[in-house]
Amino acid sequence: MLSKNMEEALNKQINRELYSSYLYLAMSSYFKSMNMDGFAKWMRIQANEEKTHAMKIYDYVIARGGKVSLLPIEAPKAKWASAGKVFEEVYAHEQKVTGMINALVDLAAKEKDHASFEMLQWFVKEQVEEEEHASGILAQIRIVGDIPGHLFWLDHQLGKRE
Ligand code: FEO
Repeated sequence: MLSKNMEEALNKQINRELYSSYLYLAMSSYFKSMNMDGFAKWMRIQANEEKTHAMKIYDYVIARGGKVSLLPIEAPKAKWASAGKVFEEVYAHEQKVTGMINALVDLAAKEKDHASFEMLQWFVKEQVEEEEHASGILAQIRIVGDIPGHLFWLDHQLGKRE
């Protein structure tokens, strides 16, 4: 059985993962509107991935006899100044999510909730990848700068994501 504290914290995290999905979907539609189909595809896949993160916690809350409470999802913004600005925000957002996951791990440890601690280890590892991908793409955007031909090449590369 989950403690009330842990149940509430996990429900908040379900909400933040769904917000991440919303944010990346908004970024996908922004890229689509800029005719950057590769970036748009990458973001759409990322949005779907965030939904699976939310559902992982959702299933876990239920498996532990907890109650899922779906909270309102904040609306993300819809416009960015450039691809670089988008990925600056992705990287900052993922660092924030890492902080949230770490806080959940701390809570699980404090409450001696071994099952939640174990479940959250998947997210600890996932956040290493999430930050690595976001910072890696940001670095590539900074290398190619605003040169349209180079940005087109990067768009093509990102469009290869399955
Ligand atoms: Fe669910 Fe991108 O962290």
